[in-house]
Amino acid sequence: MFNLDGKIALVTGAGQNVGAGIARCLARQGATVAVNDYHADRARQVAEEITAAGGSALAVPFDVTDLNAVTAAFAEVAERTGPVDILVNNAGTGGPDRTMEMYQFREMPVDYWRQIIDVNLYGVLNCTKAALDPMVAKGWGRIITISSGAGTVGLDIGVSTYAAAKAGAIGFMRHIAKENARHGITANTVALGLVLRNVKDPELVRKLADPIPVGRLGTPEDAGHLVAYLASEEASWMTGQTIGLNGGTTTS
Ligand SMILES: NC(=O)c1ccc[n+]([C@@H]2O[C@H](COP(=O)([O-])OP(=O)(O)OC[C@H]3O[C@@H](n4cnc5c(N)ncnc54)[C@H](O)[C@@H]3O)[C@@H](O)[C@H]2O)c1
Repeated sequence: MFNLDGKIALVTGAGQNVGAGIARCLARQGATVAVNDYHADRARQVAEEITAAGGSALAVPFDVTDLNAVTAAFAEVAERTGPVDILVNNAGTGGPDRTMEMYQFREMPVDYWRQIIDVNLYGVLNCTKAALDPMVAKGWGRIITISSGAGTVGLDIGVSTYAAAKAGAIGFMRHIAKENARHGITANTVALGLVLRNVKDPELVRKLADPIPVGRLGTPEDAGHLVAYLASEEASWMTGQTIGLNGGTTTS
């Protein structure tokens, strides 16, 4: 699809679902992929799958909320494969323990929303900070952040602080795009719609897909294909954008 031969990509939260789909897709285009996840076993498994399929990957487990760990991991990747050319900020959480338990804001415990902001917003800041200097030195870079439709529209499903973090990431990417455009670096955001892999009940899947104009939920591969484009040489004039990837759902 796009030629990413010789590029080093780092995908955060790539141990499952959307991030794993993105990592596999970038590897198929020829990139060497640093597969990050907070869960080391997940990162290793995805990296092994990519390698077994003929791609090039390494596992780099770290917590995106820990700036020291992020900085050390980017240095490790640079030493093992070369500096990161393509950063995909995908790691995200719907709440502590990844329960996706949802609260109206009035009832939301402060610790709950601190973690949401920490992973979904500070995680993006930390990884972007670690990625930028080597990209500027090289005069080339791609930063792609996976946000959510929740960051662009109001919803009544108890995701207010998740939306705040995701909207924050959108604003951050727009500014990073402007600050770094002259260094050959692009920064874009994907406002993703529903991609649910664990719903086994066909009736529930149908109900969730019903309001989506295309008539189906998204897949990790849908995200991977868009990210592969945004990561490519061909996307050099595409920067500072927020792209809705959602089967046609209205997001503004
Ligand atoms: N799935 C959807 O419907 C959907 C919709 C809109 C946006 N998104 C966004 O897409 C991204 C991926 O979503 P998903 O459904 O694949 O999520 P997921 O929960 O299935 O996977 C996220 C991965 O990130 C990892 N992770 C969490 N916190 C981390 C941290 N601090 N450091 C490193 N890794 C960490 C988890 O271990 C997990 O493997 C997220 O940013 C999410 O907010 C998802």
